[in-house]
Amino acid sequence: MREKIKRLLIEINSFSTNSKEELELFRIKMLGKKGEVTILFDNFKSVEVIIKKEIGQLLNELKTNTQQKINDLKQLTESNGDVDRKIMDLTLPSQSISIGSRHPLSLVKNEIINIFSRIGFAVSDGPEIEDDWHNFSALNFSEEHPARDMQDTFFIEDKIALRTHTSSIQVRVMENSKPPVRTISPGRVYRNEAISARAHCFFHQVEGLYIDKNVSFADLKQTLLYFAKEMFGSDTKIRLRPSYFPFTEPSAEMDISCPFCSGKGCNICKGSGWVEILGCGMVDPAVLDNCKIDSKQHSGFAFGMGVERITMLKYQTNDLRLFSENDVRFMNQFKTEL
Ligand code: PHE
Repeated sequence: MREKIKRLLIEINSFSTNSKEELELFRIKMLGKKGEVTILFDNFKSVEVIIKKEIGQLLNELKTNTQQKINDLKQLTESNGDVDRKIMDLTLPSQSISIGSRHPLSLVKNEIINIFSRIGFAVSDGPEIEDDWHNFSALNFSEEHPARDMQDTFFIEDKIALRTHTSSIQVRVMENSKPPVRTISPGRVYRNEAISARAHCFFHQVEGLYIDKNVSFADLKQTLLYFAKEMFGSDTKIRLRPSYFPFTEPSAEMDISCPFCSGKGCNICKGSGWVEILGCGMVDPAVLDNCKIDSKQHSGFAFGMGVERITMLKYQTNDLRLFSENDVRFMNQFKTEL
């Protein structure tokens, strides 16, 4: 009997399963009415008196071990067992990760940069917090000049403000390089305006500057016609209307033939067939001199456009606020292949 108990102890201790059914069979095999452990207890009566104490202890040990084993395995099969097998299906395909999309303003800004880089324009950058000289004075806005009111400025302290246009970058480029200069300056600009569908207190610009010997208005016109055709299609026409900026003389505003109705007249162009997209002009000689470029030897043209305006025309968006609200339902419409 001693041998039988020891053999059973080894069998019980080494038993393992994570199936509930197997565990139940094991329980019946050991502790059931005709189970091996039960039978041993039944046989205990006939054990010789001298070894009764020793066998009794062994039997008790066997029973507690069996009970303990069953309890442990029961817990295990209930906490994972069958459930785990379902979760761990390694043959399932993985869940797809949704990729983001580029912001429509970035898409259009990159496209503008691309178009101008194909005709030799480099990209220049500058600070958003700007001093009075680079944002105003060097660009011919005199101290008392009413033109300073044209752009409602966010001042940080006396003579330091958030730039109101990226022409400030071009002043820095002119100060630090010698002609020929061919550069475009993309960036965010700030103006103190009430937020609505058509105006915001910050927006984005791309401004361009070309300075060399004998640069003429015809060069400006041809460059902008090239841009308009690349951006809005080869049938696009341009029209220049006289305008005023302190830093250009003569100055103009440029319209393109309405990209929606091809110039026939619709509600986007308010029936005129034309939509305004940028300001431009020949750099005022005083600005060149301010930036230590000899205006007797050199001339240049400049232009500046709002990226939001171009984007709204390109994607038929009618509310400027959509660009800064980051609503994914809007942004997801611009998914591209990077
Ligand atoms: N800086 C002007 C603006 O912000 C745009 C402009 C740039 C006009 C260059 C003419 C020449 O409105």
